[in-house]
Amino acid sequence: SPSLMLVSLLVIILPALASAQVEWPKCDDKSDNVVRIFNSPGSQQLPVQLNGASMTTYDANFQPACNTTGGDITFPGEASVNQGTMTVTQKFDARFVTMRLTMKKNDTEIGWMCIDGVAQNGLVDNTFCTFDFCDSYQSVIYAMPICDALTQPGVYKLDEKTPFPIYFFFNPIPYEDRNLMTGMWKISARASLGDVVIFDWTFMGTDDSGWVHITKTGVQ
Ligand SMILES: *[C@@H]1O[C@H](CO)[C@@H](O)[C@H](O)[C@H]1NC(C)=O
Ligand SMILES: *[C@@H]1O[C@H](CO)[C@@H](O)[C@H](O)[C@H]1NC(C)=O
Repeated sequence: SPSLMLVSLLVIILPALASAQVEWPKCDDKSDNVVRIFNSPGSQQLPVQLNGASMTTYDANFQPACNTTGGDITFPGEASVNQGTMTVTQKFDARFVTMRLTMKKNDTEIGWMCIDGVAQNGLVDNTFCTFDFCDSYQSVIYAMPICDALTQPGVYKLDEKTPFPIYFFFNPIPYEDRNLMTGMWKISARASLGDVVIFDWTFMGTDDSGWVHITKTGVQ
């Protein structure tokens, strides 16, 4: 009968689809495109602490972006802190928070790019490695929800309302060198106000290797 034929067709087609899918790396929103953010080792005494924090990463078309280590920081693209809590134990004048990056690529040509905000090779200068975190006009990331929280001690829930757009983050890198960014990185960020270190965060994928993938797409 026709309906029996339809059933047997489905039986044949469905397993074929299922096995074809495992050939592609899975990148489900909020479960695979995840970059976790930890308090860096040794920073547990600092006045701002994260717990269970992570962000999700998207490409320029707002599709989830993944590589083998989980979320792929894609530029142009977007990242959104969407999970965890941030505990603030002191009040800060958030207007003047300085962010210093430490970044190392798994590649002998580039290697260390920034160490605690100081540029290490000719690829970037200090304006990439050190920036005003909370200056909404100058900053390369939009961190206002985090900066507002720094002005008042408390436990803050990080959710979809804590965006972290990274459209401008890579702008200090000369256009012709941006492709060199594609690859595996170790990334941490230390925020301070004058001489006081406020927090030190390390970005990691969903595995425990400590590496995060960055992809420069052809768009920008
Ligand atoms: C780092 O680079 C080495 C040499 O190219 C490679 O064998 C290793 O798999 C890379 N590690 C990661 C995490 O990509
Ligand atoms: C991961 O990134 C590398 C380039 O660094 C690329 O060749 C590879 O296809 C990417 N893998 C996935 C699963 O997207």
